[in-house]
Amino acid sequence: MTDSAPTLMRGQEVAAALEAELRKGFDTLGFAPGLAVVRVGDDPASEIYVNHKIRACERLGFYSEAHHLPASSTQSEVQQKLEALNADSRIHGILLQLPLPQHLDEKPLLSVIDPAKDVDGFHPINGGRLLAGQPHLLPCTPAGIMEILRYYDVQLEGLRAVVIGRSNIVGKPMALLLLQANASVSVLHSRTPDLSAYTREADLIVVAVGKQKVLTAEMVKPGVVVVDVGMNRLEGRKVTGDVDFDSVAPRCRLITPVPGGVGPMTIAMLLKNTLLAAQSYT
Ligand code: GUN
Repeated sequence: MTDSAPTLMRGQEVAAALEAELRKGFDTLGFAPGLAVVRVGDDPASEIYVNHKIRACERLGFYSEAHHLPASSTQSEVQQKLEALNADSRIHGILLQLPLPQHLDEKPLLSVIDPAKDVDGFHPINGGRLLAGQPHLLPCTPAGIMEILRYYDVQLEGLRAVVIGRSNIVGKPMALLLLQANASVSVLHSRTPDLSAYTREADLIVVAVGKQKVLTAEMVKPGVVVVDVGMNRLEGRKVTGDVDFDSVAPRCRLITPVPGGVGPMTIAMLLKNTLLAAQSYT
């Protein structure tokens, strides 16, 4: 299992399969699911992500609206925009693109979104449902990773899983989903003194830190499955993950590349959540 070519888990392929499923679900719905994306300010990466999301809607025939508010918007202006979208019957899913400009407080704004339209799964009600084992709308990135693992037939029951990163967007919900699938889960973070003590024992490692080379070859055992959530922009336009791919990949049974791994699945799951929200609306 060491130093042979690993199988790449290509999210692009999984996303294409999921999009085909979604088209079938859409056909039986009888109306177009509607997604509204709200972006505040001029973060250049956010602009690219939002464009990808809108284009994905267009590809599937979903109705979509991109709302761009100026960086100087006040907390109550953003709140009013979200409330208007809550009341809009064409809109079944609402997404507030993060990060927000520094003067805005993200948590109360995420809580303004109607939990039934919360296609990011970031509302505390949806977080609580996940914690209670009664999930409805799941955060897109960890839910997409579960789909990738299913597609590549990774049996999670009894696995030693390590999640590096404890964000509300990826790390925490990822840990809960793996736990629900009967893996034994450790969550590591910036105050964990010795990452290797955990990662060397792990059968599955999900890295979601936002820093290059968090995981290197000597930190993993042969035959491990690695999922890289990182999207770090290098000089120029090149993007790299959190895993030192060239050294780690030869030790892996399966690994996601960056780009082309987790990223495409995040968008496919957003479309899935929008369809689910529209189906519940009927
Ligand atoms: N910014 C980076 N990733 C995400 C995401 O999944 N959802 C939102 N709303 N903002 C993001």
